[in-house]
Amino acid sequence: MSGAVIEAGTQAARKAGGAEPPPPHPPACPGLASRLNQVLIVSHAAELGGAEQGLIDVASHLGPESCAVLLLADGPLRGVLEARHVRVSVLPARGSILGVRRAGSALRALAAVPDALALAFRLAAVARDHRLIYANSQKAALIAMLAGAIARRPVVWHLHDILSAEHFSTLQRCALARLATPLTRAVIVVSAAGRDAFIASGGSPARARLVHNGIDPKPYRGLVEIPRERLREKLGLPRGKLVGLFGRITEWKGQRVLIEALAHLPHVQALIVGAPMFGEQAEEDHLKALATCLGVGDRVHFLGHRADGPLLMRAVDLVLHCSIAPEPFGRVIVEGLLAGSPVLAAEGGACREIMGDADWVAAPGDPRALADAIFRILGESQAEQDAKLAQLRARMMDRFSLARMMRDVDGVIAAAT
Ligand code: UDP
Ligand code: GLC
Repeated sequence: MSGAVIEAGTQAARKAGGAEPPPPHPPACPGLASRLNQVLIVSHAAELGGAEQGLIDVASHLGPESCAVLLLADGPLRGVLEARHVRVSVLPARGSILGVRRAGSALRALAAVPDALALAFRLAAVARDHRLIYANSQKAALIAMLAGAIARRPVVWHLHDILSAEHFSTLQRCALARLATPLTRAVIVVSAAGRDAFIASGGSPARARLVHNGIDPKPYRGLVEIPRERLREKLGLPRGKLVGLFGRITEWKGQRVLIEALAHLPHVQALIVGAPMFGEQAEEDHLKALATCLGVGDRVHFLGHRADGPLLMRAVDLVLHCSIAPEPFGRVIVEGLLAGSPVLAAEGGACREIMGDADWVAAPGDPRALADAIFRILGESQAEQDAKLAQLRARMMDRFSLARMMRDVDGVIAAAT
């Protein structure tokens, strides 16, 4: 493995005051022969967003014999993977690459090209010991495509985003989608909406493989049986009508829309569960100021990033998804339903692929429409809610199971190798 690669386990040991890292299982340094059987999963993001939750599931499923993870930045994802005995290394990308924003200027993207090429050569050196490169983020995909060409290794790109004007500059989405034809074996898209945007950006339909996300059912088992009030008390949550918006804090996830909607719903309180992830602290400050300015500050509770999302989802009367730009998938929609709570999702992106023709859907970016829909759903009878929930939960378990997702991912990897 390249000398530039920091073995993350060693780093963790240093941080912990020189103690040895927990004994991995199986041995941390398999020989070259076994590494050659491994998939090298690459991500530039090391925060805990939805794409990274998917990476954790894929890496845990493949196991340490069959995969290793290479992060282009250090972050909380590393610890979660290590706790699952996944082999993780960090090959830090230079600031010029990480500084390229999704909707950023072409000039900035061009200025990052020399660093991107240098990183691709370093990744290629690592990839030569592996049988396939599996890129889990769009920056990783660009570097992986170049590295794959240099090292002559097949590349699979798990595209968790929608390549649309709301999310990316024209240069970024067209360059990525077009490069994927000669430089990848397959592009896994997480929704039909994601696939359509990939093709509209110039991606080849022959490359696209639709694999909807699947959610691990374990944390949701039995939750539906737990009475909400008991859970609220245990978690220290307020009584009365309570809704919850789950997801990282960023403008397009629509936290602003919820805060504005609360001004029309005087008896409703809201949890905002999630933290700013990619340098977007200013958005959280803005949300707090907006809530105060609209006089709803005492009814909005910012909980930050939480690891007990399933419990919180069960504890609220309604889980909200308020994205104002097309959602590539939206794990929180499936998760809320699995937790046994009604979910109100914003129209657009993969919303209808998940919700079907259910009426727990609202127009995106419209506080009045959101307030009306929240009022309507909170006013439904228990029997009406239970019937809708039973139908939707059965749909989630049928279509968005982790087992199905892993079978599909295995199939793509096998065909690409
Ligand atoms: N999540 C979490 N803790 C939080 C907020 C969100 O674990 O405080 C998880 C959430 O349960 C989901 C993921 O982060 O699994 C968000 O994925 P989603 O696809 O909804 O959106 P993304 O952030 O990837 O765009
Ligand atoms: C991305 C998308 C989200 C999707 C997740 C997992 O972060 O924003 O919609 O659910 O990846 O694929």
